[in-house]
Amino acid sequence: MAKAPMRVAVTGAAGQICYSLLFRIANGDMLGKDQPVILQLLDITPALPAVNGVVMELEDCAFPLLAGVVISDDPNVAFKDADVAVLVGARPRSKGMERKDLLEANGAIFTVQGKALNDHASRNVKVLVVGNPANTNAYIAMKSAPDLPRENFTAMLRLDYNRAASQIAAKTGKAVDGIEKLTVWGNHSPTMYPDTRFATIGGESVDGMINDQAWTRDTFIPTVGKRGAAIIEARGLSSAASAANAAIDHIHDWILGSNGKWVTMGVPSNGDYGIPADTMYGFPVTTENGTYTIVEGLEIDEFSRSKMDATLAELEEEKAGIAHLLG
Ligand code: NAD
Ligand code: LMR
Repeated sequence: MAKAPMRVAVTGAAGQICYSLLFRIANGDMLGKDQPVILQLLDITPALPAVNGVVMELEDCAFPLLAGVVISDDPNVAFKDADVAVLVGARPRSKGMERKDLLEANGAIFTVQGKALNDHASRNVKVLVVGNPANTNAYIAMKSAPDLPRENFTAMLRLDYNRAASQIAAKTGKAVDGIEKLTVWGNHSPTMYPDTRFATIGGESVDGMINDQAWTRDTFIPTVGKRGAAIIEARGLSSAASAANAAIDHIHDWILGSNGKWVTMGVPSNGDYGIPADTMYGFPVTTENGTYTIVEGLEIDEFSRSKMDATLAELEEEKAGIAHLLG
């Protein structure tokens, strides 16, 4: 018997990430090739004609799994009964805008959207925040949705994880899908800490294979951390297809399981590794049956502690910058 459709709400539907993401979801890449989906698309009022154009193209793909599309500029409509919500839409930084102005503008968006999820989404909704600053936006949405389990709110660090894996594959000459136990700790920002210390390929230590700490610390870590900026510099636009791909991977693994593999998700801390509770922080997780579990008990050396604390400090600063919005 055919499965009942799942409702997938996506915000920022007229934007460049969604121009890739929506087609991948409708193709079954996110939830499985046997899972029909209803897309519930949100954007701001002036962007609705462009969303209509994207929907015309979705129709023209004749995706067998696409069971319906809803378009709205009202989060209360777009999030109604949503099983999955991918929050991509955010206010971009404009000329002359300070970081705190960006936090403030996005804080306003994510308090409203968190409340709408709280009031209208499925009680099991799985929320992924992509729009930047992703960790803090996810934190705001979580805090604005007190009736939903806090573990349902996550931020996207999967792009950083995929970037790190790809750099390691290139350096070692090994296949990217053989990489295990790789982690990116912290904030989706240049302060993130891609950590190879536990990583293996075919059971062999990645650090042992590379055997070049200077490369790891002075080339690998900054390359991954600044990859987003490098793409903006090269393309004149921020990453889109790779960001959409990472969102697909994040939700796919969360719902369908990672088969014991560590993946990185931005999730609210339970106090793990000295990260204060509720901080939306990149952790290594395994996923099974729609739940994620933070990998516990890893040894944190002095270098790692300082990197993990630096990215935490940035998140604490962002949190302080939006505290007044949460009442
Ligand atoms: P874009 O500017 O092309 O599209 C953003 C869309 O969001 C626009 O259609 C805009 O109208 C819409 N939007 C703005 N405010 C909205 C609101 N209140 N509700 C619903 N929609 C709203 O941007 P993009 O390239 O698609 O990127 C989207 C976001 O993703 C940006 O914040 C970007 O920095 C971020 N991003 C994050 C990662 C990550 O790894 N976490 C990677 C790449 C990009
Ligand atoms: C990325 O990592 O590619 C983006 O978060 C960059 C950005 O600032 O949009």
